[in-house]
Amino acid sequence: MALQLGDVAPDFEQDSTGGHIRFHQWLGTSWAVLFSHPKDFTPVCTTELGYLARKKSEFDKRGVKVIGLSVDPVTDHEKWAQDIAETQGHAPNYPILADADRKVASLYGMIHPNASDTMTVRSVFVIDGAKKIRLMLTYPASTGRNFDELLRTIDSLQLTDQHKVATPVNWQRGDDVIIVPSLSDADAKARFPGGWKTLKPYLRIVPQP
Ligand code: BEZ
Repeated sequence: MALQLGDVAPDFEQDSTGGHIRFHQWLGTSWAVLFSHPKDFTPVCTTELGYLARKKSEFDKRGVKVIGLSVDPVTDHEKWAQDIAETQGHAPNYPILADADRKVASLYGMIHPNASDTMTVRSVFVIDGAKKIRLMLTYPASTGRNFDELLRTIDSLQLTDQHKVATPVNWQRGDDVIIVPSLSDADAKARFPGGWKTLKPYLRIVPQP
């Protein structure tokens, strides 16, 4: 069955540019982003991997490890890294799985045969500290992802875990948030002593904690 939100991210062992990885051991208790890209030496991927290297410190700040995947060998990843550095100004500073045998791609459903038999689609899995899948994205090969949006969603997920708030449409860091409906007014009083604005009993707005 396809992976779903809340599932434990499947464990695997695979080679990578950072050496042999045992995934659950590598995760430890950190959050992580596992993302696939279709192929090495392709243009959109080149821009994505360079940008992600530039933004890696933003993921670090949030306690989120980053790991890429394509169905190419380590030797190709390493050669391509030089092109990424040359054209994007940043070489990948995170491991990239060399999934030439498609073990991980199959486990995570990253190959969509009606899109391509040979390449992975652009999948993203956000995994929390308990190894649960918290977010999944699937983009086609021709569309580069927005990694700033990924940071925004991670901020939202982590705020929910820490403060029992949800984030409204187009929310950006610092904007007001919504008290989750499962929190009673009595419990909300303890968490938000400064109060909140009630637009409807189910729509309670509070400054971002
Ligand atoms: C790319 O990364 O540019 C790409 C990869 C596969 C198909 C189309 C574009």
